[in-house]
Amino acid sequence: MPQTIRIEDISHHDGQRVTLQGWVYNRTDTGKLVFLWIRDGTGFAQCVFFRGNVAPELFEAAQSLAQESSVVITGTVRQDDRAPGIPGGFELGAEEMEILQRAEEFPIQPKEHGVEFLMENRHLWIRSQRQWAVLRVRATVIRAIRDWLEANGFVNMDTPIITPAACEGTTTLFETDYFGELAYLAQSGQLYNEANIYALGRVYCFGPTFRAEKSKTRRHLTEFWMVEPEAAFCDMDQLMEIEEEFVSHIVRTCLDERAEELKVLGRDTSRLENVTPPFPRISYDESLKIVAEIREATADPERRELLELEWGSDFGSPHETELTERFAKPVFVYGYPTRAKAFYMEPWPGRPEVSKSVDLLAPEGYGEITGGSERISDLNLLLQRLDEWGLPRDAFEWYVDLRRYGSVPHSGFGLGVERTVTWICGIDHLRETIAFPRTLTRVYP
Ligand code: 4AD
Ligand code: MG
Repeated sequence: MPQTIRIEDISHHDGQRVTLQGWVYNRTDTGKLVFLWIRDGTGFAQCVFFRGNVAPELFEAAQSLAQESSVVITGTVRQDDRAPGIPGGFELGAEEMEILQRAEEFPIQPKEHGVEFLMENRHLWIRSQRQWAVLRVRATVIRAIRDWLEANGFVNMDTPIITPAACEGTTTLFETDYFGELAYLAQSGQLYNEANIYALGRVYCFGPTFRAEKSKTRRHLTEFWMVEPEAAFCDMDQLMEIEEEFVSHIVRTCLDERAEELKVLGRDTSRLENVTPPFPRISYDESLKIVAEIREATADPERRELLELEWGSDFGSPHETELTERFAKPVFVYGYPTRAKAFYMEPWPGRPEVSKSVDLLAPEGYGEITGGSERISDLNLLLQRLDEWGLPRDAFEWYVDLRRYGSVPHSGFGLGVERTVTWICGIDHLRETIAFPRTLTRVYP
């Protein structure tokens, strides 16, 4: 019995008789030869049927197979530098084939389709080579996240998804009826992690988060995955050191392990090679000046209007895009206006209108991939902030408690998986970075 192998391992089987199981991705036919391009989830390989070598019925079957038909093919692996594939350089000289199912005409053809059509057929679209590549990068990003955090003393804690209170503002809450009481889907696990650090020191949660984002942009999903590290005895500067090591590790892992996929995506990886610590750090005040300069130099009046920004507002996508096009590496912007960010942020010493907050913006126009801050550790200040932000005391009583029993300086951040994958893949829109994206206008399939 020939061994059944995965396409990604094909180079280890040169000269051997093996079996591949997969789906027909493409077919070309020269009359004497049929080339079936097979994908099996781990890669893509060319299987060559030679009329003189295989039974006539088999050759005819190969000639007539539709895209996405499922097959089991046995043959001999041979090295051929010209053989296309992922990994390339090897092909299968086919000898036998079992057809598990002859597919109907596949709706997604190797031509341009509109995005709405592709999204409607997302369950089929994920089979295409480009989507395959993006989703493989995503899986590697997720593993690199966990590897780095575990290696650096962060303990995984699972925070609740059904919650009684808002973390990131009350405008993007998804409400749910919890046996007659109002509850919300988690926007962030941060507040619970602030409790968890008092038990475990350094923690992270990693899961889906939900925001009823009314914005239809390339950067917003309503359900997205976020990893949130939180550390006791950590200030904003130490937080930036953690973040730059962490993000550099994620990028390095993708460069090392997903080179083929990044090639499929046409990613200019030289831009990613730059991603090493330290990352530049600029204050919000400085970045405002840079944006103003860019605006001055912009001729287009519409663009000028978009780039308008007064002290006190958070950045929008246009500002982040312009700003980060100026940097070769991710850049930290720190010290945002207190009112532009969340209620829990530690104020800047001597400048209460500024917070010890820091966002990490990815270069090449990608913008914010992490948001974080030092947290308020003083009991009275936190109580004052809850009032100022109009948040209900009772829902936050447990959170306030954390400032009563051994409060320490602490900091944390959240990194959005989809935004990070979008940047690493060098693609335009984050909807392709998760198998089944949820957006303002889509919950199907
Ligand atoms: O900046 P955000 O809102 O920060 C927090 O939620 C903090 N509680 C995190 C923390 O300190 N523990 O969100 C963090 C990151 C953003 O930088 C972005 O990458 C991603 O989450 N993100 C989104 N990604 C996709 N779609 C959305 N609607 C997103 N909103 C935030
Ligand atoms: Mg943010």
